[in-house]
Amino acid sequence: MFLALSAYLGPGDEIIVPEPSYPAYPEVARFLGAKPKFIPIKFLGPERGFALDIEKIEEAITPKTKVIVVNNPQNPTGALFLPEQIDEIMRIAREKKVAVLVDEIYDNFVYGPGFKSFMTFEDWRDYVLYVNGFSKTFSMTGWRLGYLVIRREVAKHLTRLAVNIWSCPVSFAQKAAVAALRGDWEPVKRMVDLFRRRRDLIAKKLREVPGFEVWPSEGAFYIFPRVRKVLDETGMSVEEFVEHILYNKYVVTLPGTAFPDKAGKDFIRLSFATSEEAIEKGVERIKEAVEELLAKK
Ligand SMILES: Cc1ncc(COP(=O)(O)O)c(C=O)c1O
Repeated sequence: MFLALSAYLGPGDEIIVPEPSYPAYPEVARFLGAKPKFIPIKFLGPERGFALDIEKIEEAITPKTKVIVVNNPQNPTGALFLPEQIDEIMRIAREKKVAVLVDEIYDNFVYGPGFKSFMTFEDWRDYVLYVNGFSKTFSMTGWRLGYLVIRREVAKHLTRLAVNIWSCPVSFAQKAAVAALRGDWEPVKRMVDLFRRRRDLIAKKLREVPGFEVWPSEGAFYIFPRVRKVLDETGMSVEEFVEHILYNKYVVTLPGTAFPDKAGKDFIRLSFATSEEAIEKGVERIKEAVEELLAKK
């Protein structure tokens, strides 16, 4: 991400970040002197989930805009954007001559229909800065290995930058990655099936929590319930609410506002990259906390 953005962003430039989002995109942009423009992702309700606001994204483009970010499947919402929305972003990129930073690191964690990769566009080289990594699909989080796919002329320059920052990824991580890619994909499939079960379980359990509006995530391993009703009834901010759950019930969740800017203020993020037993216990405790808080009012 850093390499890709350093090639396209400089002081005064703008980058469009649909949010809530993974925090690195706006942070790297700011480091490079560019300005993130946050466009809220729309929550269409517990039946329909999340969608990019194509109109607002298009409206936000100015002559200074260099990059639009699309993370699909998305952290933290668990959204899987419709293929038509991906087509629309590509149309905007072509018409306005802007690049798209495409982060498809959760591309194997898909529970809904219709994942469309930006790499399926024949002209991806003209617009797409594609990032992916080994952390999620191969559970190699600690190995610190990701990759950027970008047109050859740009890669040539970025290779010089990479060589002078970290020389190269450590050799054993590279060997592990080759083994992962050449290896049997059965364990990955089994893991994703397991995650689908966990997704079903966490969605079902969260629906039993009073005041939570739950859309079952369609990708990644996060679920992002809307908790506005609980916040309104208790007078808590989302940060106070997650701290309360942490210190009183020992369950870690993140406030939606950890994914800057502000669009996440009505939501909390839960990860279901854990056992079914932990999910049952964790959500049970969240439910207890909410019931106690509401009873006090
Ligand atoms: C959307 C997204 N992109 C990229 C990453 C980076 O993963 P890593 O630093 O493990 O390569 C993450 C990690 O959570 C993520 O959620």
